[in-house]
Amino acid sequence: MTPETYRLIHVLGLVVLFLGLGGVLATAGPGQKPNRMFLMLHGLGALAVLVGGIGFAHKSGLGMPAWVWAKLGGWLVLGAMPTLVGRGLLPRGGALFMVLAIGAAAAWLGVAATKPF
Ligand code: HEM
Repeated sequence: MTPETYRLIHVLGLVVLFLGLGGVLATAGPGQKPNRMFLMLHGLGALAVLVGGIGFAHKSGLGMPAWVWAKLGGWLVLGAMPTLVGRGLLPRGGALFMVLAIGAAAAWLGVAATKPF
């Protein structure tokens, strides 16, 4: 597959991941299981974001610079979000703020012409 195909998989995966996260945050809570459909979207989207991101970095010859590792860290936290909220380790409001902050930082790292690190 070409780097551009991986990039498309990355961006489409983001749409699905954040739709899933929205649904998970709206339905999960302590003692309250998140909606299964949104959990599935979250998982599928997260997988596509990872495959697309790593695939693009590899196929475009970018390798794994520090900013890609930072995005990987953000991806891990987004992946753990349903568990963190479902077990009551993070309140919904805090989770919402973290999802937005991580999403914004990762998007900025993706589009910044000059990467900060
Ligand atoms: C945490 C959620 C993430 C968000 C919100 C996000 C967002 C974005 C956005 C908006 C772009 C620009 C796409 C474009 O120019 O068409 C991008 C590019 C990219 N992302 Fe992500 N991303 C995330 C996670 C990841 C992960 C986990 C990886 C890899 C481990 C990754 C690797 C990349 C790479 C390599 C690019 C291409 C940058 C370039 O064109 O120079 N991203 N990302």
